Amino acid sequence: MTKRLPDFPWDTLADHAAKAREHPGGVVDLSVGTPVDDVPELIRHALAGVAEQPGYPTTHGFPRLREAVAGALARRHGVPGVDPAAVLPTIGSKELVAWLPTLLGVGPGDVVAIPALAYPTYEVGAKLAGASVVRLADGEPPPEGTRLVWLNSPSNPTGRVQGAAALARAVADARAVGAVVASDECYLALPWEAEPVSVLRDEVSGGSPDGLLAVHSLSKSSCLAGYRAGFVTGDPSLVAALLEVRKHAGMIVPRPVQAAMTAALEDDGHVAEQRERYRRRRAVLLPALRAAGFSVDHSEAGLYLWSTRGEDAWDTVGWLAERGILAAPGTFYGPTGDRHVRIALTATDERVAAAARRLAG
Ligand SMILES: Cc1ncc(COP(=O)(O)O)c(C=O)c1O
Repeated sequence: MTKRLPDFPWDTLADHAAKAREHPGGVVDLSVGTPVDDVPELIRHALAGVAEQPGYPTTHGFPRLREAVAGALARRHGVPGVDPAAVLPTIGSKELVAWLPTLLGVGPGDVVAIPALAYPTYEVGAKLAGASVVRLADGEPPPEGTRLVWLNSPSNPTGRVQGAAALARAVADARAVGAVVASDECYLALPWEAEPVSVLRDEVSGGSPDGLLAVHSLSKSSCLAGYRAGFVTGDPSLVAALLEVRKHAGMIVPRPVQAAMTAALEDDGHVAEQRERYRRRRAVLLPALRAAGFSVDHSEAGLYLWSTRGEDAWDTVGWLAERGILAAPGTFYGPTGDRHVRIALTATDERVAAAARRLAG
């Protein structure tokens, strides 16, 4: 069988991870954006509360869950009027990202457009479908033949926020070639120096969800990475098409996770608390990096500090590993990331403080 997927990039970090683990104070792993704070009590309670129920859950998601999604989008992100029928829960967002081109019937001869620096699974999804990939520079319109355009603001890995006007232009450019827009809004709830907006806001969508999908994850905003909890909403006809295939294919969110998601989406307090934890960690790491000679670019929202010492990314990964700090090289996200590293805010306060001390010393 010919190799159709890229190498799994994290394997190439193994030597640096081993080096960082040798540090007498232990490793500070800022390479992966995995949550470290406890799942909030109200969510655990909701999960356990349906543990005895034996029946199949619905692929479409229970009505209360879909209403909770619509409510959260209105309250948290200024997107009122989402029709709960056009909401679909997903088993985390990574599976949807990886399978979206296939589920939409994108295939050989089609193009999937992704940002120049992007979450690697956009490319993986295109390859699983047999489509080709183009990486678009900022503001560059997708070429003819593009069936799907991925947007991601705030961005992984750069933390860049595209304003409403830039997103509206990207939507217009995609619609002009007949492409669906999938907006990965996984970090929308983590604004620092800029206010990210959803693709479903009227000033971006032009008042119509036609051709638009907003992809959301509860992994970061509600510390639910381990539960696998996400959803997609937007154009009702696209969501209906996804639902049809997912029903046949058994892509169903387990009932306890649907219950947990409902509780998480009905409560904004824990999201605010988690945001403050990340804000505190950012307030320690950002000045520590700058004082150690790094420039931090973009990073105005989301979970990452896109940092450079003006040298090859792997040299910086090595420099940090000497200090027991593990970061991801920018090349994991695209060729133009070759002089940056991605530093995640996802470590405990104690580990973040340790990283700051090491950077200072
Ligand atoms: C941009 C982006 N999209 C999607 C995901 C997938 O998140 P999950 O599958 O946990 O919902 C991630 C995870 O880090 C991400 O960074």
